Amino acid sequence: MASLKDEVLAKLSSVPTPDGRPLTATGKLSEIVANDGKVFFSITVDAADVKAWESVRELAEKAVRATPGVQSAMIALTAERAAGGGGSAAASAPPRRPAMALGGARPAAAAPPGSARGPGGPAGIPGVAAIIAVASGKGGVGKSTVAVNLALGLRDLGLKVGILDADIYGPSLPKLLAIKERPQTAGGTRLKPIVRHGMPVMSIGFLVEEETPMIWRGPMVMSALTQMLREVDWGNLDVMVVDMPPGTGDAQLTMAQQVPLKGAVIVSTPQDLALIDARRGIAMFRRVNVPVLGIVENMSTFICPHCGTRSDIFGHGGARREAERLGVPFLGEVPLAIDIREKSDAGEPVVATEPDGPHAQAFRDIAARVRDGLKVESRPAPKIVIEA
Ligand SMILES: Nc1ncnc2c1ncn2[C@@H]1O[C@H](COP(=O)(O)OP(=O)(O)OP(=O)(O)O)[C@@H](O)[C@H]1O
Ligand SMILES: [Mg+2]
Repeated sequence: MASLKDEVLAKLSSVPTPDGRPLTATGKLSEIVANDGKVFFSITVDAADVKAWESVRELAEKAVRATPGVQSAMIALTAERAAGGGGSAAASAPPRRPAMALGGARPAAAAPPGSARGPGGPAGIPGVAAIIAVASGKGGVGKSTVAVNLALGLRDLGLKVGILDADIYGPSLPKLLAIKERPQTAGGTRLKPIVRHGMPVMSIGFLVEEETPMIWRGPMVMSALTQMLREVDWGNLDVMVVDMPPGTGDAQLTMAQQVPLKGAVIVSTPQDLALIDARRGIAMFRRVNVPVLGIVENMSTFICPHCGTRSDIFGHGGARREAERLGVPFLGEVPLAIDIREKSDAGEPVVATEPDGPHAQAFRDIAARVRDGLKVESRPAPKIVIEA
């Protein structure tokens, strides 16, 4: 009996392409992963040809979904950036997933077409009461770290919380939550999120290999995000925390429009440069009528774990002043702490693994302010009826 992968390949051999050859003969297909009825692969083309190949991706997806035994398919159209494009050496280097590092920046995303907001705004997700974005204009300021620990803090307040990684270019949640497994299908084309610390979690990183060198193009960003929002069994949630990609380019703007957001939490480090980016982030959310729930000052005062000396490596208090200036709530400070970095990068977020420590408390205080800003109530505990 032919394997599922062979059957998928057979179907793909009848998909036409602008090259005039069937898709399987173009050399543009990645390795095809076919497991338990779930099929994932990518089609990599030159950046200039993306438009012409989007319809091929759609045809390929249709063909795969029509293959007997396939329950879900996720097919990415990715583009290789042409080398030696006239920029700096760094700009012409092959695209690579950026390593997470303090202050690390990421290249701006390609602008997807049609980023205008529809008249009624995007539709909500059934069962999800509030969706909030954790964002910043700048990369590497701790959005993902704050998103995970904020979600855990909201959970500790009795809310039912889920986390969505909207960072399609460089997903962080697989690492921050030490998730290696792939999502299971929940019948048809729906996926079951991975559950960690009692919270459903979804990330594109669960579906593609970590080292895949690619830049995801605008249309693919949107379809991947839409799938993760609407084709995942999130269940009933009081709050979905969305870990946003860095920047305020059109791709981020489109995401802010695509996801029905109740509010945005802006993360900034205390220094002026980061605050300028935070300001841009706030302006972007205001532009699309998303309320700003407030600013978090991350990597605030550093307290030496050995001698207890305080030093303001990136300054201190800048985000609070900026919040006051802009008339948005200040949600709290998270210190620059080796512990937070080590625990985050080891997939053991502090709120879950050191719940009695001062850092967990800082995140829970922030969570309480976010909850108050959202005005969501924790669900009443179900009544237990003891039958006589
Ligand atoms: N308060 C903190 N103290 C020490 N290290 C921190 C703190 N917050 C985040 N970090 C570390 O800084 C690095 C970047 O954090 P993180 O990935 O959360 O940032 P990000 O803003 O989501 O980045 P990106 O823009 O790439 O998505 C990580 O190594 C993380 O562990
Ligand atoms: Mg991040």
